[in-house]
Amino acid sequence: MTTDLPFVDYFLPTAPFSGLIIVGEAPGASEVELGQPFVGRSGALLTTALTAAGIDRQTCIVANVFRYRPPDNKAQHFFGPVAEAGESGRRWGRYSLGYVKADFAGELDALSRVLKDAKAVLAVGAVPLWATTGALGVSANAGKRLGGRLSKAPVFPTYHPAYILRGNYHLAEDWRSHMRAAAAARP
Ligand code: URA
Repeated sequence: MTTDLPFVDYFLPTAPFSGLIIVGEAPGASEVELGQPFVGRSGALLTTALTAAGIDRQTCIVANVFRYRPPDNKAQHFFGPVAEAGESGRRWGRYSLGYVKADFAGELDALSRVLKDAKAVLAVGAVPLWATTGALGVSANAGKRLGGRLSKAPVFPTYHPAYILRGNYHLAEDWRSHMRAAAAARP
């Protein structure tokens, strides 16, 4: 991969692995500073909700679809017209922002490799939903149990914490129930 963008790798459990893998979109400034996914404002809200749902984040793998911080935190950086996707990007199909650019298509392969150990996947936001299932639209899919396209584990789509923080606090209880459903799906 040829990019100068800051890189934040997946968080690997510090306690015995529960089988739950949480997938976000891409790291932001706090994540780059601290070198871990979901440790800024969104991460703090996510961690609180996971705890309230009975999930110890230290037992989970916390991943992002893209391990690079996009300029201005805009995921559209990773997507472009079909000509910039090449075969490797086209392989993942269209997202609403376009196709994954060839430079970043390897991020989906990396995610597939980590997801092979999943028993359940919590897909946090639209990009993770699309990456893990091919489906589009969080509102239409939040709370469902979907078949994944990167691994055999079921995928539980839910809202991104930034969406809750943007004034959608009325969804917080639903949000926690999606987390509980993902945790309960593990054998
Ligand atoms: N938002 C994400 O989707 N991932 C992070 O790691 C931080 C914020």
